[in-house]
This record gives sequence, structure tokens and C-alpha cells, in this order.
Amino acid sequence: MQIKALSPQQTLEGTAPLIVGLCAGTAGAETCGELESNGFFKTLDQTVEGSLSALLEAGDFSGSRNQTQLLWHRQRKIMLVGLGSRSKLNARVLASAQQSAQKALAKTQASQAISALSLSVENNQLTAACIRQLAAAAALASYQYSTTKSSSTSQSLACMNITAPSELVDAVNAGAAVGAGSNFARELGNLPGNVCTPSYLAQQAQDLAAEHARLTTTVLEEADMQELGMGALLAVSQGSREPAKLITMEYKGGAAKDKPICLVGKGLTFDAGGISLKPGAGMDEMKYDMCGAASVFGVMQAACELELPLNIVAVVPSSENLPDGIAVKPGDVVTSMAGKTIEILNTDAEGRLILCDALEYSRRFDPEVVVDMATLTGACIIALGHHTSGLLGNDDSLANELLAAGETAGDPAWRLPITDEYQAQLKSNFADIANIGGRPAGTITAACFLARFTEDFRWAHLDIAGTAWKSGAHKGATGRPVPLLSEFLLTRAGQA
Ligand code: BES
Ligand code: MN
Ligand code: ZN
Repeated sequence: MQIKALSPQQTLEGTAPLIVGLCAGTAGAETCGELESNGFFKTLDQTVEGSLSALLEAGDFSGSRNQTQLLWHRQRKIMLVGLGSRSKLNARVLASAQQSAQKALAKTQASQAISALSLSVENNQLTAACIRQLAAAAALASYQYSTTKSSSTSQSLACMNITAPSELVDAVNAGAAVGAGSNFARELGNLPGNVCTPSYLAQQAQDLAAEHARLTTTVLEEADMQELGMGALLAVSQGSREPAKLITMEYKGGAAKDKPICLVGKGLTFDAGGISLKPGAGMDEMKYDMCGAASVFGVMQAACELELPLNIVAVVPSSENLPDGIAVKPGDVVTSMAGKTIEILNTDAEGRLILCDALEYSRRFDPEVVVDMATLTGACIIALGHHTSGLLGNDDSLANELLAAGETAGDPAWRLPITDEYQAQLKSNFADIANIGGRPAGTITAACFLARFTEDFRWAHLDIAGTAWKSGAHKGATGRPVPLLSEFLLTRAGQA
């Protein structure tokens, strides 16, 4: 779906269906008060010959959050959407109203629409970040998975115009790019493991580089990894018929001397657990174990589209984790690229194994900061549920930057500590370090493991096990944390 900015004036003059947000009043009369105080609504009501105020006076529309109501007037189709109480109105409320209204509109024959939701926010409170979230939400609402279905339901809504004042047109474009990047990540996440293999991800990176002049992709094969001594990554891949890949995408948008921001994403295209086999129920969801990688792809696409003035390096270690006669076994000791030996006590703790070699590899780019994202621990779902990503790291200012970016983008994270007490849980009698730290604080001990490989640079880790996809009836990838990372990069580029 195409997303374009439209001025408030053009919004009034247009003929396309209009999405209009109204806050809740305790009675219909109060909602009408909203109409009185807002010049745009007043003019709109006149255009539709008072049918807007008539509808509200009838009390049929309360303005409660995400309530939708289609108003059909010969001059204009209006999709009303409730925004809840005015005192709680914020970017996330607008974004979710956009999604509700758009889904309702998609059931009509409309091929394009105008979202005037920004006009429900008082002028001095309308920020670029708010418009970004709104535009991103429009893109997110247009995504439908169809790739491996024999019949695809085609979307009639081809274009969404977002009403924004001239100074916020860039924010519409940025939000659209973030939304498209999120949808790219969702598509990669949703693809089944027999399609989205490490080789498939490598091809995606090659394709992305072919589209964007500032992007270069390099793919290391298992023989190259062998030469580099990536014994941890190769141990995970050992039981799989699909060759592992180490994918690097270098985006050069900054000055030659600018140190790159390095993004590392776990690209486990299917995690059966290996010899420490997972239980069968719900195992299909382990196709999502490459959502860290998918987010890195989504962010790189957005960075290319927005031509961000930064240097960014993406490193994606990609492999399957399967049981086999030659698979790595509990108790095996392997040597990582950094030289540290690792006792693999549980082959299902494989994410940290492929990441530790990728993190060591990222050192060669002399990074400004390194941020990795991974569906790393089930324990993170226990700690934070499905709403908030886990954030850990070795640098307070980097952690705070990421937390703030997540807050602004409506893609929140929460920090957990890494201290020496936890490090002690990784002691091994037979190697420098064990790959598991027992049941207590599983998210923290996983990050402690990574921390052993990131001592020489500023680093943060996002555990997205709970946030990268939804289970149940709405099973599917969410595209998180593409909004958080994109906001972080925009801020670094001075474009937030
Ligand atoms: N990919 C999983 C983590 C995961 C589990 C993500 C459930 C989302 C939902 C990871 O590779 C894993 O298996 N972790 C183990 C670690 C344990 C063996 C220390 C876990 O969380 O159980
Ligand atoms: Mn695992
Ligand atoms: Zn995994």
C-alpha cells in the first residue's frame, strides 16, 4: 500500500473516504462539543450537511477506543473511529485507531482513503514521532500474509493519505518506511522453515543490495567460518542439512570516517532444540526463531529508503538447529572465534552460540556501538510477557537511548541487569564457560553469556522472544523491534 502526506486543506477538498477520530464524551452531547471546538470538524460537518452532528446527537457513536462507524453521505464517506478519553490521547491511541478504521474500510470497495486522525490532536501537541507512528500503523494494517496460500485475497485499499502539516511531511515518509520495514520483517518471519532457510535469507540480503546502491552484501559459507574459527556457530549447524550462512550487509550513508552502528540478528530459521529436543506442541512457532534477523533486514531496508546519513553494518548468523547423528551433543566442548571454549550443556541454548561468533566477528568493523536482537529465551516471556522486549547491555547511555527510542516509537523495551553474581551461574568444570546458567534468571544469564564476547565495545541486547510474534488466532510475526531500532537510527541521524 502506498502512503502519502496530504495537507489539511486538501483533506477537506478531497472526495476519498475520510477517517476521522473522535474522543469519547460522557454523553453524545459532549462528543458534539468536540465538533464545535474543532474548526476542521465543523467545516466537514457543513460539507456533509450536518449528518455528522446528527449522528452524534442520536448518541449512536460514543467515541470509545477503536469503535468504528461508517457514515455514508453523498458528498463524502466518513469512517468515524473512537479515540477514547481526550486526556489519554497519545500516539499509540492514534496508531491503533488507524488500524481499526483501516480494517473497517478494507471491507468496503474503497481503493484509497484519507486519514485525518492527526487533526484530532491539538496543533501544538502534534509531534513528528506521533505522525511517524500513525503512518507506520497504516502500513502495518495493510499487511496480509498470502505467499504460501493458493488463493490470495486482494486488498482493495491501495493508497492511504495521511493528513499532516507541511513541516511533518518527512515524518509521514519516515513512518511509511518504518512500516514497510516492519512488514518485510513480518513476511520473513511468517515464511515457513522449508522456504525461509539460511540460504533464502542470504539471497534476500543479496537482493536488497541489488536494489540499493549504498548497500553491499557479503555471505560467508561454512568453509569460511571454519577458517575464522567460528566453532560455536558451526556446532549449532552441524546437525542440519541446510548450510549455515553468515550474512553481512554494509550500508554507507555517512562520512567515510564515521564508525558504523552494528546490528546483529539471530537468524535461526528453525529451532527444534537439537539433541536437547523441544516438546512437540507448538514447535511450529520455532520458525520464528529468525525474527531478530528479520528485524535487521527490515531496519536495513528502511535505512536505505530513508537514505539515512549513517554507516550501518548488519551481521546475521543463520542456521537451523536440528537433532541428527552428527549433531552437537550435551557435554560437547567447542571453541568460539574469540578463543573461549564453551561447554554445550543444552543444545537448545543455541542462539547465544551463533551470536557469540557473530558478535566477535562484528569487532572487525570497529563499531561505534553494537546492538543485537534475538528471540533468545522463553524466560523473557515469563518476565515481560508479550508487550515489552527485554533490554540488557554494558553501556548505560546506549541502553537509555534504546529505551527512549522504544517509548517514542510505541515499541517499548525494559532493562534487566547484568551483574557478576549472575555471571557465576555460567561456570563450567570443563570449559571456560557453560552455555546455560540454570533456571533462575534465564534471560539475564543468556545475556551474561553474550557479555563475555562484547567486552571491547559498547553493546546492547534485545530479547524479543515475547514481542516478535503473536500466537493463537492471530498467529503471525509483529515486525518488532523494527520501530524501536528505526527510531534509534533516526535519532542518531538527527532526523527524529
Ligand atoms: N529460541 C529459543 C527461545 C524461545 C523459546 C523463544 C520460546 C520464543 C519462545 C531458544 O533457542 C531456546 O530454546 N532457549 C532455551 C534456553 C534454555 C535451554 C536455557 C529456553 O528458553 O528454554
Ligand atoms: Mn533453542
Ligand atoms: Zn532458538
